[in-house]
Amino acid sequence: MAPVSHFERLPCVGGEVVTITIDGEAHEVDSRWTVAAALIAHGHTRCRCTPEGQSRGPFCMSGVCFECRVDIDGTPNRQACMTPVAAGMRVVLRQDLRALA
Ligand code: FES
Repeated sequence: MAPVSHFERLPCVGGEVVTITIDGEAHEVDSRWTVAAALIAHGHTRCRCTPEGQSRGPFCMSGVCFECRVDIDGTPNRQACMTPVAAGMRVVLRQDLRALA
């Protein structure tokens, strides 16, 4: 079952459309969005797993909780909610950290 977003997408006014990749899949997003907004808008509500296997995703959207950490352009643990999107950006979700250990 696809995740349900509780965010309403407002019409884009004045922003450019840029393309980013999320786990290798290209997505067009508004250039004024953060990475977390782009993830949620495209149905990615989970960014990573705890060592115990519990999934985590953007929560506070204000840089406080650190639950939105993802790999961006090869740099791990970047806060998606504090990072604006950029054309060509590569975002990688960490679905299961245990598999990487
Ligand atoms: S969503 Fe809380 S720090 Fe990013």
